[in-house]
Amino acid sequence: VRAGRCVIALDGPSGSGKSTVSRRLADALGARYLDTGAMYRAVTWAVLRSDVDPQDADSVAKVAAELDLEIGTDPHVARVRVDDTPVETDIRGPEVTAAVSAVSAVPAVRKLMVARQREIIAAAGWIVVEGRDIAAVVAPDAELKVYLTASADARARRRSAEYATDVDATAADLARRDRLDSTRAADPLRQSVDAVELDTTEMGIDEVVAYLRQLVATKVSL
Ligand code: DC
Repeated sequence: VRAGRCVIALDGPSGSGKSTVSRRLADALGARYLDTGAMYRAVTWAVLRSDVDPQDADSVAKVAAELDLEIGTDPHVARVRVDDTPVETDIRGPEVTAAVSAVSAVPAVRKLMVARQREIIAAAGWIVVEGRDIAAVVAPDAELKVYLTASADARARRRSAEYATDVDATAADLARRDRLDSTRAADPLRQSVDAVELDTTEMGIDEVVAYLRQLVATKVSL
């Protein structure tokens, strides 16, 4: 693990390549990795398990406040536990994916998650943090802020390859989540003015990671 401190914020919509790129970049830099989407997904998993309506903000907030959420920061090992139950696989399933936008729109949930994310970042030293509101809200003092995009087509193709789902259905689901995530009142997805925008439509993963390593090198001496 690296000495010193460097926070790299990676925001962007679903399917922009964020997760793969973030993990690979963390690995290349010897940094920790935090998947904040997995935290909102874990809360959503707990909401569904408790038979709470994801649209019922007060009950959702209560579930979030009472749950014991554990999230790992090793870029090689996904570790997410809710009340000691491993949920790494379940949180990627269609039920959680369908309900996560509603749960992550609840301000009380965001407040709890952001506080937790800041603690993890403060304890980490070098860390790559991926999400929607990292540059703007979670880590406004990050050393490097990146906003990853890709065309709607490219994002749908990548997601459907990753999850073995139908491209058209995936495209419709992505469009629905983009709309919900960018129009919600609390911390919507948006690009920070001081973020470097990178359109990955025509780029391969290796190329994106190499480019970001260069960017990090211009900010911090490696
Ligand atoms: O990146 P992902 O698809 O795993 O994220 C799941 C959902 O969580 C996504 O629809 C938006 C929400 N999210 C958020 O509101 N804020 C974050 N920092 C990360 C994710």
